[in-house]
Amino acid sequence: MFEGVLKKILNHPEKVDLEEIAFLLSDSRVDEKLFALADEVRQKYMGKDVYLRGIIEFSNYCRNDCLYCGIRASNRNVKRYRMKADEIIHRARVIYQMGVKTIVLQSGEDLFYDEESIAYVIKEIKKMKVAVTLSIGERTYEEYRYWKESGADRYLMRHETADEQIYEKMHPGDSLQNRIEHLRKLKQLGYEIGAGSMVGLPGQNDYSLAKDVLFVYELDADMVGIGPFIPHPNTPLSNFKGGDLQKTLKLIALTRLFLPDSNIPATTALGTIHPSGRQLALKCGANVIMPNFTPSPYRAQYVLYPGKICIFEKDTACGECTKQLIKSAGYFVSNSLGYRKKIATE
Ligand code: 5AD
Ligand code: FES
Repeated sequence: MFEGVLKKILNHPEKVDLEEIAFLLSDSRVDEKLFALADEVRQKYMGKDVYLRGIIEFSNYCRNDCLYCGIRASNRNVKRYRMKADEIIHRARVIYQMGVKTIVLQSGEDLFYDEESIAYVIKEIKKMKVAVTLSIGERTYEEYRYWKESGADRYLMRHETADEQIYEKMHPGDSLQNRIEHLRKLKQLGYEIGAGSMVGLPGQNDYSLAKDVLFVYELDADMVGIGPFIPHPNTPLSNFKGGDLQKTLKLIALTRLFLPDSNIPATTALGTIHPSGRQLALKCGANVIMPNFTPSPYRAQYVLYPGKICIFEKDTACGECTKQLIKSAGYFVSNSLGYRKKIATE
């Protein structure tokens, strides 16, 4: 029975409905077959290559109050920091020198960095032969355009959950529809776009997770980051249960079947809830790892969720560590820029 649905995803993904996906998510007899198939699809499209993305978390100021997030504006226990433009650029150079060819600039939604200051950082980093990814939240369409023209290649903006009601509960004053409009706009402007979601948010069920799969498929997301929700003690969700490993792996595997050539990271959150979380994700369809290059002392202050791995590592240790991890899982470290589509700059 479930074999039929798996086949349908491979041959006619556009015909698969929410019930069918929810069914696959609910039945543990599917898991082994699903994981093997996801690895097969991944190997068919990208071989055993794994892309590295070096992430710099350059500011933990945030104007938003997402219920799940440790750096939400209302959390007064966070020691806030902002890196200077030249500090960020210097850090990008360190990443580049370690052979990592994508620089991800991530922060809370921090309007302190205006259009020009972000553009300056992009332009300086683009003098190196790297791809630049922005992950700085919702800004104006003019800013998105300007940064694209300044050389930015990709934009990560997780949709967080494709269940409208849960989205609105989690994001006071915001709507899923608005989020979708931002993602579409970014795509129109020529960015490779990264959507993605958390697994295990309060109120989610297999049906809501099925919506996440269909959402990224219909959006044709170039990247999809999927991780478990991990309750943070200083948030309104502190007493809720977190997302589980197996369900997160299933969502990754299903996403791989629907989007055979998209980039799917083995997320840090997955590595946080299980010591082999990221290795397991690589075997279930993921093909990207994002080593943390945020310099100390800032790194320990960028705490979206508790227990985050790599906090006490030397601030360049994750580069080598992730390379080892990839090899020990049986994959190769790619040294390409890691675009979804094989474009000329590679
Ligand atoms: N648990 C897991 N993931 C989280 N994120 C934010 N807070 C948490 C949490 N408590 C994720 C969001 C965000 C990404 C940068 O981190 O999905 O988009
Ligand atoms: Fe950071 Fe292993 S990836 S210490």
